[in-house]
Amino acid sequence: MSRTDTLTVPAGHDRPDVRPPAPDTAALPAAPGEAVGTAGPAEEPDALAFELPAGGLDDDRRLRALDSMDAYLTSKRRHLLGYQATQEMGGGAFDLGRFMHHNINNLGDPFRSGGYKPNTKVVERAVLDYYAALWHAKGPYDPADPESYWGYVLSMGSTEGNMYALWNARDYLSGKALIQSPAAGPHYVRAAPGAGNPNAYRPVAFYSEDTHYSFAKAVHVLGVETFHAVGTEQYPDECPLAGPAGEQPPAWPAEVPSRRGPSGHTWDGTGEIDVDALAVLVEFFAAKGHPVFVSLNLGSTFKGAHDDVREVCERLLPIFERHGLIQGEVAYGKDPGTGEPLTDLRRRFWIHVDGALGAGYAPFLRMAAADPAGFGWTPDGGLPEFDFGITLPTREFGDLDMVSSIAMSGHKWPGAPWPCGIYMTKVKYQISPPSQPEYIGAPDTTFAGSRNGFSPLILWDHLARHSYQDQVDRIRRAQELAAYLERQLHLLEQEKGIELWPARTPGAITVRFRKPSPELVAKWSLSSQEVLLVPGDERTRRSYVHVFLMSSVDRAKLDELLADLAEDHALLARA
Ligand SMILES: Cc1ncc(COP(=O)(O)O)c(C=O)c1O
Repeated sequence: MSRTDTLTVPAGHDRPDVRPPAPDTAALPAAPGEAVGTAGPAEEPDALAFELPAGGLDDDRRLRALDSMDAYLTSKRRHLLGYQATQEMGGGAFDLGRFMHHNINNLGDPFRSGGYKPNTKVVERAVLDYYAALWHAKGPYDPADPESYWGYVLSMGSTEGNMYALWNARDYLSGKALIQSPAAGPHYVRAAPGAGNPNAYRPVAFYSEDTHYSFAKAVHVLGVETFHAVGTEQYPDECPLAGPAGEQPPAWPAEVPSRRGPSGHTWDGTGEIDVDALAVLVEFFAAKGHPVFVSLNLGSTFKGAHDDVREVCERLLPIFERHGLIQGEVAYGKDPGTGEPLTDLRRRFWIHVDGALGAGYAPFLRMAAADPAGFGWTPDGGLPEFDFGITLPTREFGDLDMVSSIAMSGHKWPGAPWPCGIYMTKVKYQISPPSQPEYIGAPDTTFAGSRNGFSPLILWDHLARHSYQDQVDRIRRAQELAAYLERQLHLLEQEKGIELWPARTPGAITVRFRKPSPELVAKWSLSSQEVLLVPGDERTRRSYVHVFLMSSVDRAKLDELLADLAEDHALLARA
């Protein structure tokens, strides 16, 4: 397994029309505008070089413009530390470059070839089968088996996966026709609330304050109500959480609080959802008759935290049982012939796992924890179950599978040159597409119409190149590097007499610390987050950045960053 993009041309791959990418080594000559070894960021390429005149550009100018972009990206790629995207593409660019000659489009459902034949759906299905097995879903996909998985390769990243999950859950929970309903027509029929419960088809969404901003966007776009919105509007004085002393009753928080840290506030907590607070909030809305949608994080955006999906399921199940959310009759329409109501039995809750980063490595971490001798590594602390395999006993309905959907980004853990990912659910939750266009020759079950057919090739190639053992080694390296960086930051604090606030959530592959100068932020593509140590008190504001220990990061890069931090004027000024 090669860790960088350094490519050697394998024998028999002598294709003159495919250029291997520039090697990612320290020996790479400095590109124009690149400031290797200094804190100065490489400049963005000159916009003038990219202006498009009516007559187009001659080859010389066109190629010079492209070279300048390549030089810029190469420099930035070598220094990317602040985002959870690997820059390691393996040899994929070389082997897959040939597919750039095709217009590939995976239009429509992945399990039907459809009318647009230049597609890679056969590869897409192989990738989905791989993740279905890793995430303990029943495969292969079988439209006649409600328990089997269904999913697709996303054209966006987990933002699309989260949005699809919310859409899927909203329609399922609000009583719209399922894909399997015999009378499902081309239009949605929303269930009318029964006389006894006006909230029966009004789902409420719960997610923690450490959740990615894509969720706030998704609820907005899809018109899903959060517990905050419903609570503030309908029950302004009834928030059941314990508020700060003196605030009686407390205001509804915008999101479910995360676990508090030693300070008693959440800024220095692990970033995991506060399961007690979640349970209290869910109980309140379940008692009012609302269906419940919960999204949990596996590798949260800033702290890399893993919500304990199993613990959440165990805590919420009795609440769901108490309030009749395990199963309910849903009238989703009327039989066009008889006018009789069409009904089915559905569960009234949905647990989604936003595994944008973590769903890529968590299965391998769990494999190593279960067989340390076999994989040659004992991870520090385990990672609880998080996937479709979580099954819990109920009093009335036997064993219940708890997780309804998972989203993962392809460009984060596996690695891809552009955003992509996976959305997965089960056939029994699939909703009927809003329209059935004959035009594409396949059911329009996905979010986008035209879909990226290149991404399945990228993901497939990555999976084919890496054994389970390789993946265990990748997550092991990431965790070891995270521990190394945290240690070195502590040492740097002592050496320089500066406060860097290093912190790492146990098991996370990210380390956070004090934000350095803008030059270093730009040089290393560091993303930042502000926190208030005391909520509401501006004087306690702190700015953090973080480093994600992706497979394209090595000790040499970290040592270069540490050397930069040791000389950083902004940090030294605060010594
Ligand atoms: C936890 C989490 N969810 C969702 C996303 C959005 O993923 P994408 O950038 O692939 O759309 C991210 C991105 O960082 C994330 O960290």
